[in-house]
Amino acid sequence: MAAWTNIFATIFLACSAFALPTTRQLSASCSLSNARLQVPSNQTQLTAPTIAPTFIALGLGTQNYTCNATSSTYVLTGAVAELFDSSCIYGTPAFDTAPEVAYTAWDATTGLVTPQDVITTLALVPNPLVLGQHMYVPNPAGTGLSPKWDFTSSGGTAGNPDAYAIGAKIGDLPSSDSTLNIDSLMIKVVEGSLANEIFRVQNNGGQPPAQCNAQSSNITVKYTAQYWFFGGNVTGNNI
Ligand SMILES: *[C@@H]1O[C@H](CO)[C@@H](O)[C@H](O)[C@H]1NC(C)=O
Ligand SMILES: *[C@@H]1O[C@H](CO)[C@@H](O)[C@H](O)[C@H]1NC(C)=O
Ligand SMILES: *[C@@H]1O[C@H](CO)[C@@H](O)[C@H](O)[C@H]1NC(C)=O
Ligand SMILES: *[C@@H]1O[C@H](CO)[C@@H](O)[C@H](O)[C@H]1NC(C)=O
Ligand SMILES: *[C@@H]1O[C@H](CO)[C@@H](O)[C@H](O)[C@H]1NC(C)=O
Repeated sequence: MAAWTNIFATIFLACSAFALPTTRQLSASCSLSNARLQVPSNQTQLTAPTIAPTFIALGLGTQNYTCNATSSTYVLTGAVAELFDSSCIYGTPAFDTAPEVAYTAWDATTGLVTPQDVITTLALVPNPLVLGQHMYVPNPAGTGLSPKWDFTSSGGTAGNPDAYAIGAKIGDLPSSDSTLNIDSLMIKVVEGSLANEIFRVQNNGGQPPAQCNAQSSNITVKYTAQYWFFGGNVTGNNI
């Protein structure tokens, strides 16, 4: 495994030396009418909608943390991820393996390599559409930060100022390997027209070390996940 990841790291480093195309071309998005989210049985945190999702994205990015030296633990300060359309691999074996395959490659990269480089090099989907970006913004209702998914400048919704969602967590299911992988989440949308409900599942990586000691020392931890978007009412040139 170590040799394999080193090979990938070398490939990505080599790739990053070339001028990779920066234009994000649109590939045909595929129908999700038969797609249904499966959640683990025997738990009450995640309730799968019975309807088809509007979008499914593969997210590659980082979870950001700062050290609280009083408790000696890392506290989440945000996340940044690029969201790639997964609709065209739904129903194929690549759909289920993509988050883990992408994580193994993404985790082996160094600073200059972008999520787009990883996705282009892996070629899990030919010419994958970038649906949008994930980040954190000030909580619209009060204190702290809230997760946001922004499709206003990418993909078929580019140019639609309502094609975003700000969410609040309503369900949280830890991974079976919770020292490594961030939790699966069910999120209700509190602002924006992109979706009514969002799920983060198939999580790989993203967890900080158990302990820290220097106040405000900040780290970013790479992760991948699948995001499912339900409901919403966005329109655009290509949807
Ligand atoms: C459901 O969870 C309980 C408590 O964790 C466990 O004892 C039981 O074996 C689980 N059942 C199944 C079918 O996974
Ligand atoms: C840091 O940890 C302490 C002790 O658990 C807690 O009282 C405090 O609110 C935390 N600070 C932040 C910014 O999370
Ligand atoms: C999180 O880290 C990324 C680097 O991976 C950085 O670009 C981004 O600004 C950070 N965001 C926050 C909210 O800290
Ligand atoms: C579209 O969705 C947003 C957010 O869910 C909602 O506030 C708005 O009323 C909806 N518009 C229509 C025309 O359904
Ligand atoms: C670490 O992150 C915190 C919270 O985002 C910020 O207030 C602080 O300035 C950062 N510290 C450094 C050294 O960048």
